Amino acid sequence: AATEAPEARSARILVASNRGPVSYSRPEENGPLTAKRGGGGLVSGLSAIGPEAGAVWVCAALGSGDREAARRAAEHPDGLLDRADTGGQAVRMLDIPEETFRAAYHGVANSVLWFVHHLLYQTPLEPAFDVGFAREWAEYEAYNTAFADALAEEAGKDAVVLVQDYHLTLVPQLLRERRPDLRIGHFSHTPWAPPDYYRMLPDATAAAVLRGILGADRAAFLTRRWAEAFAACCARVLGARVEGEVQGGDALRITYEGRTTQIGVHGLGADADFLRERAHRDDVAERLAQLREQIGHAPDGAARRTIVRVDRTELSKNIVRGLHAYRRLLEDRPEWRERVVHLAFAYPSRQDLAVYRDYTAEVARVAEEINDAFGGPGWTPVLLHVQDDFARSLAAYRLADVALVNPIRDGMNLVAKEIPVVSEEGCALVLSREAGAFEEMRQDAIEVNPYDVTATAEALHAGLTMERGERAARAARLATAATALPPSRWFLDQLHALGG
Ligand code: F6P
Repeated sequence: AATEAPEARSARILVASNRGPVSYSRPEENGPLTAKRGGGGLVSGLSAIGPEAGAVWVCAALGSGDREAARRAAEHPDGLLDRADTGGQAVRMLDIPEETFRAAYHGVANSVLWFVHHLLYQTPLEPAFDVGFAREWAEYEAYNTAFADALAEEAGKDAVVLVQDYHLTLVPQLLRERRPDLRIGHFSHTPWAPPDYYRMLPDATAAAVLRGILGADRAAFLTRRWAEAFAACCARVLGARVEGEVQGGDALRITYEGRTTQIGVHGLGADADFLRERAHRDDVAERLAQLREQIGHAPDGAARRTIVRVDRTELSKNIVRGLHAYRRLLEDRPEWRERVVHLAFAYPSRQDLAVYRDYTAEVARVAEEINDAFGGPGWTPVLLHVQDDFARSLAAYRLADVALVNPIRDGMNLVAKEIPVVSEEGCALVLSREAGAFEEMRQDAIEVNPYDVTATAEALHAGLTMERGERAARAARLATAATALPPSRWFLDQLHALGG
């Protein structure tokens, strides 16, 4: 029905991503289907262009609530979700068969491509690509094809299409085959693996992913480091010609089979106006009071210091080593006992995957072990919160003396950018050199090697003992660096680079 509607094939700007700006669930059995809007760079980026820009967002239905909403929308003449649910945004949610979605998302995207780009494999046992992977790969192709078909159907002539991330690597090429008139961009929100690691993928897969992205007119990354790794993989795996350098602008170009793809770098920063306003609403003040109560005071009456981390419970975030580092701090520097609290907010993610469930359990186990070993009446050394609560995260940001952001590898890491903006006293930032954010914040952060627990403990100590004035001055500079590239600019720059 969607193709027959008068509005069909008229979108001038299209965004494609696995996760859309809204999700549906039925909180009570037999109750109404409820929409929940998400945040993130794309949502705020898109809000920078008005509804008159004619943008359509194509995403996948992720669960049973989404599927129901997608089916209902398919019955509308325009095939789009109810705009009351999406904040006015035109969204087409694809009801991809569950088997296909599971294999593409949990199998190929999250268990293989995510692992490769974040260097997460424990190589003596994994990966081992066998017939199971071949089946999943075929579903990944089907899932990418469903996106390419939908985009081809929605796009007006010469429209600009911004394809997002490792879930949709094949879409640029598939879409170009269907609609050579379109201007296509691909953006990777993850790091990109160096060639030696990338070549763990079966050869045909390694080549297909690169060829798929090179179907775009422009392939963009969060940092220069990830862009260069992509180019190195194209040269090594495909024998593509790489010219120029990433120096801002589009100076790096990759030519393969007669077509040239520009390589771009667009860092993504924190949204300062939104954060500062949101962090001072009543619900945050309420959580702040609750947290202060839980943190308590040292026996001498002094306010306890805080080390704050907020993450999805994601293997790449390195939460367990962070907890080991905190334990090392309490062991080696007994002067901090009773005087510091670690607020560790670790919100469950990808719980359909056993390895994520195990990691979530390990985080809880280590936190409990630390509390059993060191805590006592009136002092809980680790306050682990696992219930996702944005207002409480912001309250913790406000309280932070030290922010701990120690990922094994991360495309950017926005928490590293958000905490210095919101912290009241100005926090010290302990930051992994493997986070994309490190490129922009290295001067005022305390650098850590994420694998080095001892060094991380020392960095926490350095943060806690940093003289107040210096800490505040550094935090102010960190906040400036963190907000230099607001999401609206990130989005508009990409659009303009494609002539949109
Ligand atoms: O690039 C990383 C990303 O796609 C981000 O959008 C987000 O941080 C995360 O992965 C979301 O993962 P998921 O949709 O699997 O929860």
